[in-house]
Amino acid sequence: MKEILNRQWWKEGIVYQIYPRSFQDTTGNGVGDIKGIIQRLDYIKSLGVDIIWLNPIYQSPNDDNGYDISDYRNIMAEFGTMEDFDSLLEGMKTRGLKLVMDLVVNHSSDEHYWFQESRKSRDNPYRDYYHWWPAEKGTPPKRWSYFDVDANAWKYDATTDAYYLHYFSVKQPDLNWENPKLRQEVYSLMNFWFEKGVDGFRMDVISFISKDPNFPEIPEKYNGNYVPFYAAGPRLHEFLHEMHTESLGKYDVMSVGEAPGVFLEDALNFVNEDREELNMFFHFDLMSLDRKEGEVFWMRDGNWKLSEFKKVHSNWDEVFAKKGWGSMFLSNHDFPRSNSRWGNDSAAHWYNSTTMLQTFLLSMRGTPYFYYGDEIGMTNIRFDKIEDYRDINTINRYELAKNNGESLEDFIANEKEASRDNARTPMQWDSSNHAGFTEVTPWIKVNKNYQEGITVADQEGDKDSVLSYFKRMTQLRKDHLTLVYGDYTLLQETNEQVYMYLRTWNKERYLVALNFSTKFSRIEIDEVSFEKGRLLISNDMDNAESLIPGTFLELQPYQAVIYSLE
Ligand code: GLC
Repeated sequence: MKEILNRQWWKEGIVYQIYPRSFQDTTGNGVGDIKGIIQRLDYIKSLGVDIIWLNPIYQSPNDDNGYDISDYRNIMAEFGTMEDFDSLLEGMKTRGLKLVMDLVVNHSSDEHYWFQESRKSRDNPYRDYYHWWPAEKGTPPKRWSYFDVDANAWKYDATTDAYYLHYFSVKQPDLNWENPKLRQEVYSLMNFWFEKGVDGFRMDVISFISKDPNFPEIPEKYNGNYVPFYAAGPRLHEFLHEMHTESLGKYDVMSVGEAPGVFLEDALNFVNEDREELNMFFHFDLMSLDRKEGEVFWMRDGNWKLSEFKKVHSNWDEVFAKKGWGSMFLSNHDFPRSNSRWGNDSAAHWYNSTTMLQTFLLSMRGTPYFYYGDEIGMTNIRFDKIEDYRDINTINRYELAKNNGESLEDFIANEKEASRDNARTPMQWDSSNHAGFTEVTPWIKVNKNYQEGITVADQEGDKDSVLSYFKRMTQLRKDHLTLVYGDYTLLQETNEQVYMYLRTWNKERYLVALNFSTKFSRIEIDEVSFEKGRLLISNDMDNAESLIPGTFLELQPYQAVIYSLE
């Protein structure tokens, strides 16, 4: 496949995301740690993944589980030491695994030295590392905050009689990228990690870093949905390009930005190689499909449609067909579990829907990102008491709902499906106490279904398990580069049950068919000649006879198949 231009390791690699707090505890404090990850490196390697993305492991008071960093060059004590980190990196290099860290530089912790200084006086040298609004100018123009109990992004600070900006919690003040000194600090800390041998960064809410320092009133069209406004900062692309020049461009590393508020029209401005900004980013079109319009955290009424799901992916594939590169994900630490959300985690459909979704991510163009536990089919925990939740997002919005006199029952009903804690429960290793994650009470409850076969130990030796299917599928992608780079063509566009597409490169052609429904489906295939197809993989062999290529295809509920076509 030498005609393929611009091959890159981060295009061919499969990413495995680890939420360190929930992966493996070795110190007996109920919190996962770096040594725990080291202990599991052989397991991770055996999955057939290539790149580990670690959620933040830097020093942090943990207001938002590490997304509030108080020292960018130190490791969170709960997770271990810099020595542990160095051993992790070494262990990964020995196994040919790459490491991507989380870069959180839209904001820091209020306990960071910079902020401690900044808030001391108006003429402190660190004052301009953050955004301040002097109180004598009156109340600052409205800015909405994700995690604030009043949803207000300005917090009054009496010491200097001024407000500081925080798009997230009050303990996450926004950094001022207008200040060239701050920008140099960021590039320097990035280079610090690159010099250690880190292979890239996932960049937290990177689309929000540029703000108009005059803080004009937000135009009316953004009322009720501030996110696109936050992502349209005047100097965003200038900063990203500068970051490339000062840091990213100097190393063989990957960069993937988290980009809420960035849509199709703007995509190439971030990842067109000629612009030298980022390699990839995560858009939110899929993540908002089952949410209320303009709402980040509220489920919509009624179900999402498969045609909408296909449309999102087809549109994004098209944007990156010639330039740039996409990222494919169905879940992460901010969203519910993928099978509970896009599949069906009832006993009858758990196996097929989990493996069907794996087949999907591993047969699309774009780098696939899996979240720890996806490989064994971990599901939503659906806490029904506020006391069980640990996420600042749920806890503070609960307070807000209470203060506004809203129904707390409705709130919890929504969180059961939508909350981030659904995806943060401990990794299910085996059927011993606490699923082998820890020996003490874990920081967040373990999903009880670790007693029903959803563990690594239960699935590892079983060739028909979800885990074994996952490994076959990662291998299949590796053996067929066309699944990585080939063109994507949607078939059966309006079919609301089955997602079907071709991946092609020169004479190689693969047909992927995924039943996204609880119903049996029969499809007449007239768009391609299917008779001479060869079945490469199926997640269900109960209907082996009907999988023989003919003029039609019959799929069981949530069945996934890939054929190679002549
Ligand atoms: C991103 C992270 C999320 C965090 C937020 C603030 O969205 O993925 O977990 O809470 O930024 O840092």
